[in-house]
Amino acid sequence: MTILSWHDQYIIGDWTIDEQHKTLFKLINDFHTHWSQVHEPKEIALLLNKLVQYCEHHFVTEESIMEKEGFPRLEQHRGDHEKLATSIFALNEEYVQRRELASNDVQKFCKHWLVDHIVNADYEFRDYLSLKRQQRANA
Ligand SMILES: [Fe+2]
Repeated sequence: MTILSWHDQYIIGDWTIDEQHKTLFKLINDFHTHWSQVHEPKEIALLLNKLVQYCEHHFVTEESIMEKEGFPRLEQHRGDHEKLATSIFALNEEYVQRRELASNDVQKFCKHWLVDHIVNADYEFRDYLSLKRQQRANA
């Protein structure tokens, strides 16, 4: 069972960002499936690590696209990414140290962490991009 489903309402309107978000959904689902069903510690550690690395890669890509587009709230967005990175690092660290994770933490992380960020912060960029494109089309 997948914990996160992709919906077109999550589309930001930048191809690279959207594809990376889809990959993040997949990585979270893979991690959650293994954590809840397979219980293979090595595999869980590997998947969590993959998620950490992909997040870092995604945040850098997203920030550089925002910078290129002249997004005025970039600094605030960077701060949001830092907070997200901190929470995924913490989850990873906890697993490395204890080889187990609190069920609540995993549920919360998998269900809300990425989706909340897309809906609250990335949508600001979506709106900015669509306005910019509209202005360009009208010019
Ligand atoms: Fe973001």
